[in-house]
Amino acid sequence: MGESASSYSKLRTYLYANRYYTKRPAVKDPRLALLPPELFCGASVLDVGCNEGWVTCEIAQSWGARRVLGVDIDETLTRLAWKRKRTVWSTQGPTAAIDEKPLPGYFPTSFEHTFGPLPIPSAQPVDKHLFPHNASFRTADWTNNAIPQDAAGYDVVIAFSLTKWIHLNGGDDALLRFFRRVYDVLTPGGSLVLEPQAWETYAKAKRMDSRLRENAKCLKLRPDDFGSLLQEMGFGAAQHVGTTGEGGFCRPVDIYKKPA
Ligand SMILES: C[S@@+](CC[C@H](N)C(=O)[O-])C[C@H]1O[C@@H](n2cnc3c(N)ncnc32)[C@H](O)[C@@H]1O
Repeated sequence: MGESASSYSKLRTYLYANRYYTKRPAVKDPRLALLPPELFCGASVLDVGCNEGWVTCEIAQSWGARRVLGVDIDETLTRLAWKRKRTVWSTQGPTAAIDEKPLPGYFPTSFEHTFGPLPIPSAQPVDKHLFPHNASFRTADWTNNAIPQDAAGYDVVIAFSLTKWIHLNGGDDALLRFFRRVYDVLTPGGSLVLEPQAWETYAKAKRMDSRLRENAKCLKLRPDDFGSLLQEMGFGAAQHVGTTGEGGFCRPVDIYKKPA
């Protein structure tokens, strides 16, 4: 793992000691619920900063995507994401009971603790684009490193709650590089789905780490500038689909389209 990856790992000990999805729990992610359902239909999707893979798995399982790749800089998290995929697969069978008798295939969450997750069968031509076979994960600092999957391009790139960390870790240059890379890997007509963190939330993150504090002093770009910045790079105007989240997680979700 490169230097920025290991320093991010160090930072994770502050940020994720309590696990991100215990702070932001959602069986159905409310950010995805804001999006037009046809966005993911048959799409190739990249979820940058996938963390433990909850969003990636939901897109792959419930939103009709053909292929979803979750990428995270932190390999501890991508390992947990592979585990999440097995958990989601194990428990996706019928959960209801009729007359208090479980339906065949019912696999309560508690079974995983006792027996482990169900094995994932090999993909067949008929289901290779269905969950669980359509979801995979990879460890990479995607801002700075291309990955082999980028070559084929993506119809949708998700960047949920990510820009602040790229910005604070790598400065304005890293953020610009990230946005340019997204533009380059999107297919014509493809969409960036962005949930940026507000500038006010940077203050708390800066307090966690002296390096981030130093980096923050040099930042000239602000999240409010992202819309015009993305348009200068060639994206269309932001389509604001809504705002969701409680307290400090209350954030807008915007779609930026690359021209067809
Ligand atoms: C706040 S979490 C957001 C998780 C998820 N996207 C969500 O909103 O549910 C940010 C994630 O981005 C990852 N990350 C930060 N910089 C990254 C980079 N350059 N490349 C890939 N992942 C990165 C972190 O490891 C972390 O898991």
